[in-house]
Amino acid sequence: MIVDQVNDTVSRIAGLTSIDELEQLRIHWLGKKGQLTQALKSLASLPIEEKKEQGNRLNQYKQLLIEAIEHKRQELDQRQLDAILHQQKVDVTRPPRHALTGSQHPIHHVSERLIKWFSEHGFEYVLGPEVETEYYNFTALNFPDDHPSRQMHDTFYVEGDRLLRTHTSSVQIRCMHNRQPPFSLITAGKTFRVDSDRTHLPMFHQLEGMLVSESTSYSQLKGLLSGFLKYLFGSDVEVRFRPSYFPFTEPSAEVDIKSHDGQWLEVLGCGMIHPNVLTEANIDPVKFRGFAFGAGLDRLAMLLHGVSDIRSFVSGDIGFLEQFK
Ligand code: PHE
Repeated sequence: MIVDQVNDTVSRIAGLTSIDELEQLRIHWLGKKGQLTQALKSLASLPIEEKKEQGNRLNQYKQLLIEAIEHKRQELDQRQLDAILHQQKVDVTRPPRHALTGSQHPIHHVSERLIKWFSEHGFEYVLGPEVETEYYNFTALNFPDDHPSRQMHDTFYVEGDRLLRTHTSSVQIRCMHNRQPPFSLITAGKTFRVDSDRTHLPMFHQLEGMLVSESTSYSQLKGLLSGFLKYLFGSDVEVRFRPSYFPFTEPSAEVDIKSHDGQWLEVLGCGMIHPNVLTEANIDPVKFRGFAFGAGLDRLAMLLHGVSDIRSFVSGDIGFLEQFK
């Protein structure tokens, strides 16, 4: 009797352990030429009443087998998955693989450290545009028209009187225009000159500061800059102030520090803000005085890390940059 065979098959299915055997059984019963499929086909020749009754029964068997097979298939699939997962167990004691992580660029890093130091010393952090006018870059800073001092800076002109700022001193007048003393400011950013060799890049970075009040003095400037260089290079760094010339400061000085091999290296320009510059900013030069200073950030980063070629900073060499993590 087919009912006994079906019942027998259902209990055989329950005991199976292989997907292949299960599939064979399925084909044997439910395949195109399977037992049940055939039996259902042969109903066609029966009278209608019998066809109905037998058809119902056979369809019930079919349903029974389908359910048993499906249930078993899920069970075997799960078992197979468990076996794979067990085999591929994660070894949590294995050492981690070295992952590549990014880090701050050394110039950015020096810049942020110094901005923080000056902020803690009461300087307000401001920003100015990289594309400047001749007025803010030169004229307002007491560079006379057609004076050779303008040629001290090989300038990238953009169009008309617009240029890429050659120093961050251009931010001075912009900020002085809308402030009343006393005030102290710090700015940092990109600067541009037509220059390129081991110690110069056409695009470099400066940090610029200024302080204007009724009592600002040159000795305050010396004290502040010595303190800042000691902070950066260590308390035993030797600092030298050497008389120099800038159109926008009087007196002016350049500041050198002594390197490990005993050489003096220039790191800063500074001075007392020229009365013409104060006047241009509507600040009374009789009542108020100011000092200003500008430092090359690339130069400071080179000295700090012993980098001999400034171009390394922009080479995009990951090996070089990874040293500063
Ligand atoms: N702007 C000068 C330079 O680029 C540096 C400087 C800044 C000098 C402020 C004096 C005062 O060389």
